[in-house]
Amino acid sequence: MITCSAPGKVYLFGEHAVVYGESAICCAVELRTKVSVEKSDENEIIIESILGRTGLDHDTHPYVSYVIEKMRRFADIKGVRIIIESELPVGSGLGSSAAVTVASIQALNHLYECGLSLEGIAKTAHEIEKMVQGNASPTDTYVSTMGGVVMIPQRKKLDLINCPIVVGNTHKFSSTKELVGNVAKLRSDFPSVIEPILYNIGQMSILAEKLVSEGDYKTIGKLMNINQGLLDAIGVGSAELSSLVYAARGSGAISAKITGAGGGGCMVALAGENNAEDIARAIENAGGEAIITNNTKEGVRLESLHG
Ligand code: MEV
Repeated sequence: MITCSAPGKVYLFGEHAVVYGESAICCAVELRTKVSVEKSDENEIIIESILGRTGLDHDTHPYVSYVIEKMRRFADIKGVRIIIESELPVGSGLGSSAAVTVASIQALNHLYECGLSLEGIAKTAHEIEKMVQGNASPTDTYVSTMGGVVMIPQRKKLDLINCPIVVGNTHKFSSTKELVGNVAKLRSDFPSVIEPILYNIGQMSILAEKLVSEGDYKTIGKLMNINQGLLDAIGVGSAELSSLVYAARGSGAISAKITGAGGGGCMVALAGENNAEDIARAIENAGGEAIITNNTKEGVRLESLHG
C-alpha cells in the first residue's frame, strides 16, 4: 500500500479576488490529508473515507472519482482501493478538497508509475477542482502541491511565516461554489463598486510580499484586518465568523480574518510568540473550535511505500 499526504492552507490575503486574476498570498499549514492506495484483485474501484465506502461516485467522493478518471489518461487503472484519512474538516475553507485531490493524484502517480511532475500534479488537480466547483482558482491545489507560502497568480514562493497560526472553525458548512457564485452576481450587478474592492484586496498581497520577506507581521496583520473588512463588504462574512474574528483580536491576535470562501467554515489568526493558547481559548469561548498550527514548507509528500 502506498500512502501520500498533502497539506491544507490558509489565505493571508486574496480569497475571492484571486478568482478574477488579482494577487493572493496563501500559506500551507501542517494539517494533512492522507491517501493510501493499493491495486485490488477484483478489478473493482473502492473509495473509503468518513463519508462512507463507495465505488466511483461523483456525489459522495467527487474529487477522488474524477482523479481516477483523469489518471486513466496516464495508466490502465482497473481495480484499486483508496483510503482517505484527513485532519482537515470538509467544507471549512482549509483546502480539504485540494488536499485530497493532490494526495490522491500523487498516490496513484506512484502506484502506476505515471511520472507526473509536481507541476503536472498541480495542473491536473486544478482541472479537477474546476470540474467539481466551477470557477476555481489554481491557488488551493498549487499550494497543497508545493507547500510553503505562495503568491498567486505569480506562483512565486515567499519566505515562510514564522509565527503560530490559529484557525477557528465555525462548524457551519459553506459551499465554495455557492459563495463564488454570489460574489460573481454582486460583481455583475454592481461592477463599479465590487471591481475596485477586488482590486484593492489584490493590492494588499502586492504590498505584503515585501513585508513577508521582512517578517513584519504587525503590518501584515493590519492589512489582513483591512482584507477582512473587504470580505465582509462582498458578502462572504457571517455572524459566526465575525464573532470568532473579534474574539481572536480581543485576546491579542496580530490579525484575524476569514480564510477561504467564507459564509461559514474557518477564520485564521496570526499569533504572537506566547499568546496562541489565549487566542485559541477565546475562539473556543466564542463557540468555535480552535486549532493551533504552523506554516509548512512541505507540499505533497510520500509517507510510505508499504503497509
Ligand atoms: C476558496 O478556498 C478560495 C476562493 O478564492 C475560490 C478559489 O480561489 O477558487 C473563494
